[in-house]
Amino acid sequence: MAQLNVNIDHVATIRQARGANEPDPVWAAVECELGGAAGITMHLREDRRHIQDRDVLLVRETAKVLVNLEMAIAEPIVKFALRTKPDQATLVPERREELTTEGGLDCVRQQKRIAEIVKRLHRAGIEVSAFIVPDVKQVAAAAKAGCDAVELHTGMYANARTGEQINRCLHQLEEARDVAWEQGLVVHAGHGLTYNNIGPVAALEGIEDFNIGHSIVSRSVFVGIREATREMITLIDKYADYIRQ
Ligand code: PXP
Repeated sequence: MAQLNVNIDHVATIRQARGANEPDPVWAAVECELGGAAGITMHLREDRRHIQDRDVLLVRETAKVLVNLEMAIAEPIVKFALRTKPDQATLVPERREELTTEGGLDCVRQQKRIAEIVKRLHRAGIEVSAFIVPDVKQVAAAAKAGCDAVELHTGMYANARTGEQINRCLHQLEEARDVAWEQGLVVHAGHGLTYNNIGPVAALEGIEDFNIGHSIVSRSVFVGIREATREMITLIDKYADYIRQ
């Protein structure tokens, strides 16, 4: 059954909007855990626009579930990860002007640098996933670089509007998943997933983790983040069961 890691970046976004100390992402992480999340995901961006170093350190210290650090392949962030030792690092591309992580990591062009970072993270006991677009060449390059997992970018799927576009995106995700399996990689997925569009991807076989942030934090304004987490898990389980019947 697929697991949910809640991305708590946007709890920090609200805090940073006022430069205050609330809402605290560390508290949010505990609530997500109580709602059944299997993991907590945070992206420590180089510009520190939402998550701060202290958030990662405190979540690392207090969480009883998996801690997944999204990180650019920039040296200061790599050093931070090596010191902090999250359970898992997800390597992502990062551009300062973007609103959110826009594309996937280019594992084909940056394979050598990624391989070097993967080796260092492995030495520190950190599992490594690469956030990539669902493209078979990217999957193969991530495997060659030594990654343990790939997180398939679901942004295109989330933006698809017609049935035909949606089916094409689902097919690409399945193709990428199959190649990842052949290469012995674990498959994760995320970006742009919501309560409305999670169904068809939750029904795909073999995606082990979903990383979902914005939609859950948005819903938490109305129902609280513990309940918002619970509701997303209920949907993931429901669609996974549905396909098995
Ligand atoms: N996965 C990765 C690698 C991401 O960069 C993000 C956004 O920070 C997410 C998942 C979560 O995306 P969303 O906030 O749209 O759920």
